[in-house]
Amino acid sequence: MRTDVAIIGAGPAGLLLAHLLAADGIASVVVETRTKEYVAARIRAGILESASVDLLRAAGLGAGVDAGGDQHRGIYLQWPSQRHHLDFVDLAGRSVWVYGQTQLQADLVAASEAAGRAVYYGTSGTALHDLDTGHPFVTFADSAGTPQRVDAAAVAGCDGSFGPSRSALPADQTSTWERVYPYSWLGILADVAPSTDELIYAWHPDGFAMHSMRSATVSRLYLQVPNGTDTADWPDDRIWAALAARLGHGQDGWTLTPGPVTDKSVLPMRSFVQSPMRHGRLFLAGDAAHTVPPTGAKGLNLAIADVALLAPALGRLVRKNDAALADAYSDTALRRVWRCEHFSWWMTTMLHISGDPFDAQLQLSQLRWVTSSTAGAAGLAENYAGLPIGF
Ligand code: FAD
Ligand code: PHB
Repeated sequence: MRTDVAIIGAGPAGLLLAHLLAADGIASVVVETRTKEYVAARIRAGILESASVDLLRAAGLGAGVDAGGDQHRGIYLQWPSQRHHLDFVDLAGRSVWVYGQTQLQADLVAASEAAGRAVYYGTSGTALHDLDTGHPFVTFADSAGTPQRVDAAAVAGCDGSFGPSRSALPADQTSTWERVYPYSWLGILADVAPSTDELIYAWHPDGFAMHSMRSATVSRLYLQVPNGTDTADWPDDRIWAALAARLGHGQDGWTLTPGPVTDKSVLPMRSFVQSPMRHGRLFLAGDAAHTVPPTGAKGLNLAIADVALLAPALGRLVRKNDAALADAYSDTALRRVWRCEHFSWWMTTMLHISGDPFDAQLQLSQLRWVTSSTAGAAGLAENYAGLPIGF
């Protein structure tokens, strides 16, 4: 096959990039190892920044968020006996939307199918070739095992943390930065109406807890647990009891309503950046280039921001052979990546128990400042609600 851009990975970054390129008249072929159903069912992020929603609307992909998203003015931050609301609209002039990654993925798949775009699911053996030349190509075996080759003007590595694109950059021309945290999240999805109108982020001596949601009838909740935790050690009753204690059930009349748990998983936490996000005709976007711990709700939004920059860069490269935006892509994207890396690290280390009593006092002091000073609250609000794409 010959196309303009070969895209590796049909997650949010890959499918959104294909959509934005198509709007600009640029053809693409998307290659994905998993099945369409597997990618669609992955329960991951839940919050869209206002810039992400603006971009989706401008790209003609806003109908799902507008119909099924829930606009939130802010979040609650709490610690034992204290709960404070931070109003992002008042503090930073922007709101966020609760809209699950599964819903966004479904919108992207629907748009891709309606346009008849080429997406190969269930592939194996993806390999990248001749990235240093003007004629890169990608090889893989399709779901029937038939060898395929895609020749393109550029390759977009949108294949997440474990795909082959990241390691296709020469090690001697690449820098990486990493922080591994000494805790994980135990996440559940439950068929019960949320016990809160907006997300609750809770500091607690037993460990961080969070109450999020997916809809009026589905709640998403998280508990800080040690690395290596086995879900088998966390029957539903134990999870609800820990959530009730950490989220402050009974505090000022607030109650947590438990319900049937439909999904349970443990997520390790990592910060990671690879730079540059480009080598020759290969461009990385989303988790392929960087990972954040989920506390700041940035992973999905960063993937969206990357492709918002990459699509016009590839458009100019392919159509006019003009590399100005493509050459600037990595530096431009990394400015926002590092801002989100810092914010995600900061939220994570402010809210998770490290076991060190000195850390705990610093965290409580920081939480008091962030919730009582307009300057402190505005800093959190500006970062959480999201900076403009291109910041
Ligand atoms: P991905 O969604 O990972 O998509 C990459 C795609 O590439 C995948 O479909 C993968 O199957 C495919 N691929 C991999 N290897 C190959 C190959 N060899 N050939 C072809 N295709 C390949 N973020 C938040 O903000 N909040 C959260 O609560 C949250 N929870 C998360 C939970 C988990 C378990 C994980 C892994 C991530 C979570 N994230 C969360 C992060 C967020 O989901 C990601 O930042 C987002 O999915 C990034 O999108 P992406 O398209 O870059 O990568
Ligand atoms: C979620 O709803 O899954 C979610 C929301 C906010 C976060 C992390 C996860 O910071």
